[in-house]
Amino acid sequence: MIDGHGRQIDQLRLSITDRCNLACRYCVPARPDAHAVGTIDVEFAVRLVDWLVQAHGLRSVRLTGGEPLLHPQVVALVGRLSRLGSPPELTLTTNGQLLAARAAALRVAGLDRVNVSLDTLGPQRFAELTRGGRVRHTLAGIEAALALGLTPVRINVVVQRGLNEHELADIAGWGLARGCAVRFLEVMPIGPLASVLDRHLVAAAEILERLSERFELRPMATRPGQPAIDYAATGGGLRGVIGIIAPTTRPFCAQCRRLRITARGELVTCLHDDRRYDLRRWWDGRTLDRAGADATLRAALTDKPAAGVTAQPVCMRSLGG
Ligand code: 5AD
Repeated sequence: MIDGHGRQIDQLRLSITDRCNLACRYCVPARPDAHAVGTIDVEFAVRLVDWLVQAHGLRSVRLTGGEPLLHPQVVALVGRLSRLGSPPELTLTTNGQLLAARAAALRVAGLDRVNVSLDTLGPQRFAELTRGGRVRHTLAGIEAALALGLTPVRINVVVQRGLNEHELADIAGWGLARGCAVRFLEVMPIGPLASVLDRHLVAAAEILERLSERFELRPMATRPGQPAIDYAATGGGLRGVIGIIAPTTRPFCAQCRRLRITARGELVTCLHDDRRYDLRRWWDGRTLDRAGADATLRAALTDKPAAGVTAQPVCMRSLGG
């Protein structure tokens, strides 16, 4: 797939449900909007990925949500995807609350690795930020993923002013001590809370400064399409990889290789673009009309913006983070 700006697209983020068992303050407003919940049909998801791999050179699929582990058939879905003719790299992004219980089955089904979101180590703060989550479940999920070889496990930390900016080196230390790569993300102004989030932005430069108090950081070579700037980190008897993802102060749109599909079967070309391209109309419950889907895909690829500019009114939970 080549988009309208000459970029090669070969990564898919597939949101399999927009349900979530947490309600992180930066993602959803106090009372989550009462939108109908979408959960993707397994057969439809398998056919979509098969089509994109066979006909369009897709190389990697990241399952997201919402919280993907809430999809009742997530293990079966992973199993089906990993047994496709030429299976794509298969990864999953989770908040980790249910991961300890599911990691073994996911591994056996063929999942390659996981990214786990962890914004704080403090039980109180975690519960507050996520509106009720238990940090020990997420930590246990990470340990289980490591033990079962869903590696390298990456920890995603969304950095927010006044919330966790004093804790960054502690989180990095916790992760590195266990062999995780730890990635710090600038919070993006997305969804109904965009204007609030702007005020919580901690720029990459400051994130680096704070981490440098504890670790020596040497920049590593980046792979094409890799949004993170990775550093070889050493310090306090630890070593490993620390990454920074800085969509605001170091945008990586020029190297973007991604497409997204929502749990409702709509293509989304960019987190900052609210256009949707319906693929479900090409699905009759049994077969995917590839000619029709090709036309929709072409339109989306042509429209994919060079850089995200418009405000995205929809939250990550519905978009697929
Ligand atoms: N800015 C940055 N990261 C975000 N995530 C969710 N919302 C935002 C935002 N506004 C993160 C989640 C998860 C990943 C899928 O995206 O914390 O780690």
